[in-house]
Amino acid sequence: MTTITNIFDLEQLAREAMLPMFYDYYAGGAGDELTVHENTEAYKRLKLAPRMLRGVGERSMNVELFGQTFSTPIAIAPTALQRLAHPEGELATARAAARAGALMILSTTSTYSLEEVAATSREVGGTLWFQLYVFKDRAASRDLVQRAEHEGCKALVLTADTPMLGKRERDIRNGFHLPPDIQTKNYSAIGATSVDTVSAGSGLSNHFFQNIDASLTWKDVEWLCSITNLPVLVKGVMRADDALQAARHGASGIVVSNHGGRQLDTSAATIEVLPQVVAAVRSSADSSISSLEILVDGGIRRGTDVLKALALGAKAVLLGRPILWGLAADGERGVETALHCIRDEFDNAMAISGCRTLHEITSDLLFHP
Ligand code: FNR
Ligand code: LAC
Repeated sequence: MTTITNIFDLEQLAREAMLPMFYDYYAGGAGDELTVHENTEAYKRLKLAPRMLRGVGERSMNVELFGQTFSTPIAIAPTALQRLAHPEGELATARAAARAGALMILSTTSTYSLEEVAATSREVGGTLWFQLYVFKDRAASRDLVQRAEHEGCKALVLTADTPMLGKRERDIRNGFHLPPDIQTKNYSAIGATSVDTVSAGSGLSNHFFQNIDASLTWKDVEWLCSITNLPVLVKGVMRADDALQAARHGASGIVVSNHGGRQLDTSAATIEVLPQVVAAVRSSADSSISSLEILVDGGIRRGTDVLKALALGAKAVLLGRPILWGLAADGERGVETALHCIRDEFDNAMAISGCRTLHEITSDLLFHP
């Protein structure tokens, strides 16, 4: 039996368990995968300056997002096609999230339907947000938004960084496609549940090209806000001016993200752009801007990474690949292991850096020579 000490152990198990074409899809990124690498490397370059003798015998990592309190600021990023990791796919992830008290963001491109995942999540008392890719068929997207609201999702996350898929060379070489029994079920309204082989390249890239609306603008953030009562977050923001745009067009939050390095290679690491985004938002005189919720994802593999992200102004963080590694390694239990692993490391880091609550995690915890 293998002892799982950290996320890297889980990734090793996942790699052994998965078909190479699917492992490559999860692990890979765009171009030379420089941004995939940078996302984790940038955290390693940041050094901490821990505070001593702060009475850390009792700690809480409770965080409030849109009126709901979570027992951890570590949430599950939307990731597509989870049945490639495990037959229970998104259902297993939803159960593990609920057990760990973590928020799960469900992808539009899931392999169980929104209704199936929401029902499972409700059974175990979980919280879901829904990530939206806007179809070319706008009426079908409006319908999907209404279904998400009806199913009890608590927020919508509009992914802005994917007008088309990035150039993912592993998927091109592998001729990425789905086996016929694995389908993108939320695409049934537009008759596009299968991701087939194409004559050359990635079937998923083609699937996106066919079905996803590349013409979105900031006006469409307003459109989305106008058809829902749920808070809307824009995911994929990498610049201060775009953060301000998001707020001006009605968003209640943003996710600072480069899609885990899967979209535009050589994009900066998210933890490097976060401080600029936070500064621009928090210094605004307009309270509808300064109150924007700011989340971050990309490259978080360690509890100290979570500490650094929160110190630099993120309210919560999202994990993408670590969850998929857990799922592939051991289904629901593996996802729980991934969540517990990073949460326990984060708790340990809070204690040793002198933080009892998330409010005490401030930017002076970072060492500046
Ligand atoms: C993603 N991501 C993603 N994002 C999104 O908005 N909708 C989606 O369907 C997907 N699908 C997806 C699949 C896979 C296999 C990966 C790895 C990622 C991006 C995801 O939400 C998140 O931004 C990154 O995964 C964060 O980086 P890390 O934690 O993987 O380094
Ligand atoms: C991905 C998409 C589906 O990153 O978001 O593969």
